[in-house]
Amino acid sequence: MSHLPERVSVYEVGPRDGLQNEPAAVGTVLKLRLIEALARAGLQRIEITSFVSPRWIPQLADADELAGSLVPIPGVTFSALCPNARGLARAQAAGIPEIAIFLSASETHNRRNINKSIAQTLEVFRGFLPAALEQGMRVRGYVSTTWGCPYEGEVDPKRALELSRTLLQLGCYQVSLGDTIGVGTPLQTRAILQRFLAELPAEQLAMHMHDTRGQALANVLVGLEMGIRTFDAAIGGLGGCPYAPGASGNLATEDLVYMLDGMGVATGIDLQRLWEAGRLAEALVNRPLPGRVHRAGVRSLKA
Ligand code: HMG
Ligand code: MG
Repeated sequence: MSHLPERVSVYEVGPRDGLQNEPAAVGTVLKLRLIEALARAGLQRIEITSFVSPRWIPQLADADELAGSLVPIPGVTFSALCPNARGLARAQAAGIPEIAIFLSASETHNRRNINKSIAQTLEVFRGFLPAALEQGMRVRGYVSTTWGCPYEGEVDPKRALELSRTLLQLGCYQVSLGDTIGVGTPLQTRAILQRFLAELPAEQLAMHMHDTRGQALANVLVGLEMGIRTFDAAIGGLGGCPYAPGASGNLATEDLVYMLDGMGVATGIDLQRLWEAGRLAEALVNRPLPGRVHRAGVRSLKA
């Protein structure tokens, strides 16, 4: 393989993308323990919750209390999803330094997820992002359904590219491309990324792959070779989107880090401690988690 980097950045979404999808809400104190365990494992970017409507995502209704109780950890950035000015005010009150805005490349998923057209969503972003940026917040963006939509099927990558460009122009430092329902395959990923990388710098892009059909790592490998240097993942393979039928877990953080370790690509993450954080996550949600390394363990019997 050519073009392998020395280091990549892992953006942990388990406490947000993972716990938003659990049938039962996990208690705030237990969420704090999980976030601390993730930071202890060496994760430096952790999306901890969402400042969305508690009626839409009751699992994260404790966002204000959770974010307000977090003790800052040097070198670790906590971020949270934020759909509108109300969310921004909550993030600011809780002292969160980074927010993530989100929309979809397909109209129907966007409406089902945030109750607005894509054009209306962009208007909302235009309305509140200047205030966030002026106060020194970092803003990340997501473009969901880039690989396919649960309602519309195929999605034109041109649309996802156009929206990513707009999010960057609005002040996002990075846009994470979402395979929300985990339908992507490697040659599709190559075609999508070729189109993106012809117009946007690789460091402004990230990949957010759900592992619904077991393709996430294969897609990540394509991205890695093509120059992508940030990958989203969720501890244990937690995850899904309640407004995307069929969406299951994200790429498991342990699986991503295991592969990168084996290829000599540094992440700054201690795999054993990460595995222990996965055990904690499993205990919190009280169901077996699907991550492969999580289930098999970090080492072979001989090691
Ligand atoms: P709406 O009902 O259209 O909003 O929801 P509204 O502005 O008409 O307000 C309705 C009520 O919600 C009002 O309260 C507002 O105050 C309240 P009421 O007067 O009825 O009591 N409200 C809020 N409360 C707290 N915080 C807020 C907020 N905003 C309004 N920020 C809205 C619009 C966007 C709020 C709603 O649709 C929503 O919260 N959606 C969130 C959906 C979500 O979180 N989905 C999962 C995350 S996306 C994902 O998983 C994909 C991703 O992982 C990438 C990938 O995989 O591709 C990111
Ligand atoms: Mg997701």
